[in-house]
Amino acid sequence: MQISPSILSADFANLQSELDAISNADWAHVDVMDNHFVPNLTLGLPIVESLLKVSPIPLDCHLMIEDPDRWAPAYAEAGAQSVTFHVEAARDPRTLARTLRAAGARASMAIKPGTPWAPYEELLPELDMVLVMTVEPGFGGQSFMADQMPKVAQVREAVRRHGGEVWIQVDGGVSAKTIEQCAEAGADVFVAGSAVYGAESAAAAVDELRSLAAAHAHS
Ligand code: DX5
Ligand code: ZN
Repeated sequence: MQISPSILSADFANLQSELDAISNADWAHVDVMDNHFVPNLTLGLPIVESLLKVSPIPLDCHLMIEDPDRWAPAYAEAGAQSVTFHVEAARDPRTLARTLRAAGARASMAIKPGTPWAPYEELLPELDMVLVMTVEPGFGGQSFMADQMPKVAQVREAVRRHGGEVWIQVDGGVSAKTIEQCAEAGADVFVAGSAVYGAESAAAAVDELRSLAAAHAHS
């Protein structure tokens, strides 16, 4: 059970200390938005390169961008330990996942709430993680979409059949109130932005979320 706090809810003027505040987490989730794939703009490769130099934990880069086939490999080449592209934006997800792995990153594919899982199941051997979005991508602080839990369970079932070590991540509205149902459905990597950085102690929130998830682990 791994926790990946989203720095989208952190203080962008103090990202180094905001990363230090979650050094007990497994990953730092970095939301890259290009104002085209989603209606919001955050940060890109130069800032990710700077974060990689100071982060006490590995970076989990979630690319909400058009044309990831062209832009995503540079994040892996820069040293990002996990790179997630959206399948809705990818021209050739299989080649892209292989390129990310060849550059030394974990290759991860995200699907939006309206995107079905079944057409992409055959990509599992190319992937290290599947991200099932539990909000429409673009903004922090939105309400959790419980109707995505059957999709998480579907992915878990596919991973079981496939037999590999593929992680399942949920992102959006994950909090102490919603993390249990995610774990029960089969998720094992949990992104939380407002629930961590909005808490009095970010580190304590990370520990609390991890133990809630562990207590409800999918069997
Ligand atoms: C939304 C981003 C999320 C966001 C989650 O598009 O992908 O990572 O930061 O924020 P919360 O946990 O506040 O919903
Ligand atoms: Zn995200």
